[in-house]
Amino acid sequence: MPLHPPFGLRRPAYGGDYNPEQWPESTWQEDVRLMREARVNLVSVGIFSWAQIEPEPGVYAFDRLDRVLGLLHDNGIAADLATPTVAPPAWFYRAHPDALPVTREGVRHAFGSRGAICHSNSAYRRAAARITTELAQRYAGHPALALWHVHNEYGAPVAACYCDGCAAHFRHWLAARHGSVEAVNDAWGTAFWGQHYTGLEQIDPPRLTPGVCNPAQQLDYRRFADATMRENFCAERDILHRLAPGIPVTTNFMTALSQCDTVDYWAWGREVDIVTNDHYLITDGRRTHVNLAMTADLTRSVAHGAPWLLLEHSTSAVNWQPRNPAKRPGEMARNSLAHIARGSQGALFFQWRQSRQGAEKFHSAMLPQAGTDSRVWREVVRLGADIAALTPVLDTSTVADVAVVWDWQSWWAQALEGRPSVDHDARERADSFYEALYDRHLTVHFAPPEADLSAYPLVVVPALYLMNRAAADNLRRYVENGGTLVVSYFSGIVDEHDTVHEGPYPGALRDVLGLTVEEFSPLPEGARVRLSGPDGTELSADVWTESVVPRGAETVWHYTDGPVRGGPAVTRHRLGKGTAWYVSTRLAAPALDPVLRAACQDAGLDLRDDLPRDVEVVHRSGEDGTWVFVINHGEEPVDVTLPGPGTDLLGNGRTGSRPTVPAGGVRIVRLDD
Ligand code: GLA
Ligand code: ZN
Repeated sequence: MPLHPPFGLRRPAYGGDYNPEQWPESTWQEDVRLMREARVNLVSVGIFSWAQIEPEPGVYAFDRLDRVLGLLHDNGIAADLATPTVAPPAWFYRAHPDALPVTREGVRHAFGSRGAICHSNSAYRRAAARITTELAQRYAGHPALALWHVHNEYGAPVAACYCDGCAAHFRHWLAARHGSVEAVNDAWGTAFWGQHYTGLEQIDPPRLTPGVCNPAQQLDYRRFADATMRENFCAERDILHRLAPGIPVTTNFMTALSQCDTVDYWAWGREVDIVTNDHYLITDGRRTHVNLAMTADLTRSVAHGAPWLLLEHSTSAVNWQPRNPAKRPGEMARNSLAHIARGSQGALFFQWRQSRQGAEKFHSAMLPQAGTDSRVWREVVRLGADIAALTPVLDTSTVADVAVVWDWQSWWAQALEGRPSVDHDARERADSFYEALYDRHLTVHFAPPEADLSAYPLVVVPALYLMNRAAADNLRRYVENGGTLVVSYFSGIVDEHDTVHEGPYPGALRDVLGLTVEEFSPLPEGARVRLSGPDGTELSADVWTESVVPRGAETVWHYTDGPVRGGPAVTRHRLGKGTAWYVSTRLAAPALDPVLRAACQDAGLDLRDDLPRDVEVVHRSGEDGTWVFVINHGEEPVDVTLPGPGTDLLGNGRTGSRPTVPAGGVRIVRLDD
């Protein structure tokens, strides 16, 4: 049987976190029997097992884990084996209390949860290296071992530690990044408010200060905290590579912008052998399937388009939101299949068997408290069979139509204090532009600011406030060579040190956009302004306006009221062979539609008008053909026009080129050659 990426898969991965240490061994036989019934072929084991496998310092008890891995292997189930370094045992903290992280306010966290880690702590680093070495030595050749799972969700729940050990580590990091204390002074603008340093030893983490703490110092600290976690990941990864060559190493990301803002995944994506991701629906009233699609696209982009794997999502409710609705019938399958449409090589869950104790006993699982006579279990078994039928798509890649530029560091910088308006939120801009593209059935590739964009007819830049020269040059080249660019307000304002580019805003993009911005004029809370454009199209906007001075750009929409009444609101600039659009106010997704439509015309890109917005259409394509995923999130059946007839992988047989997709249904059609 052929093996498929990312790691010798015979069929798409299906399974979840398996925590048998929470259960008597008498349940294990039932676990594997039911796993087989559901066609589970991969489980993540040992994520929180440190206290069991090293009950005392240097004393190891691997017998239970040996039996678990043996049982899995005997049943044809592969293991994604974790290093348990997110949960050091109680004895470790008694010996090394300073490994517990300290908050910005100076409060030390206590033992009793998980993830309480100061990543600079050398005792922690040594202990993590030791347990990783022991695990690798013992299980390197184990036939069940398919993948290493390092740690768990770096960056959560503790984003950064502010202890004295981290302060010392930060000074080293600053010396390496900036070279000298003078360079730090320059980068941070310490002449402001008398913050000048005459030696690196005078510098602390951005701890609690009476007023706004230096923004560039805060930004550098976020970079430092991220780099420090990555150092620890790489140390474990290198041990695993050395002792278990050939077994890929991952750590589960949380790329959803609504779930983790502490990690620069562009940098992390380069360090893992396989990108894996965890995604949970945030039920705050927004369309959860749009956020899911965005996260999946971002994950694929972090993997540079390579195959990735959804390592955790939920079969039904989570238990960490204020209110935790159960998924509706069919929703779990739509969620899993949407991830697969966007490049995941399978779908795994947190967790296999619902816990009876601890903090997550009301979190859904594949095998719920209700047992096998339950909707969730029946849907889990059905999904296992459906996913097993998707083996042919393993050798394909998701096809993207447009690029969206995204950068975690720019997001961090925008979230700092002292900005023109608290109502502006970079993530919201990314969400809304994404939603507008989703609603037109365009598949998005996310790109870091300096990436080659030439493959995309349309590139959207939502609020890229922090932009260095190289990124600005990249965007200019893209337009000059014929691309169509759409840029939102508050882009190209500062360099990597949070220093405003010289001259009028937006310093990095003035020439590309053919305009300057004389002054920002954000709106009062709740206030709205009106825009008027081509053929009298009226739009309504909020949060932000500004005085745009065209210097080569033409005005397409102008403000008809508000602080800059009569001034340009949306502009268009021809540059070289391409076009650069600028949107100077906050348009929600529906109001962005006419602007994107006009830009798509410049880009020569067809917008689909024939489908309701909640019908998701994504293509995966490879040497063996093209598969179209159609997911109907709506309440009505829809006839969907495909490029041609084909065969449905989910057991619906031959389909014409206009199959009906029932409300809540999914079709995965292999198009005829
Ligand atoms: C995260 C963690 C899991 C579990 C789930 C619950 O993704 O990795 O251990 O806590 O959340 O949603
Ligand atoms: Zn620390």
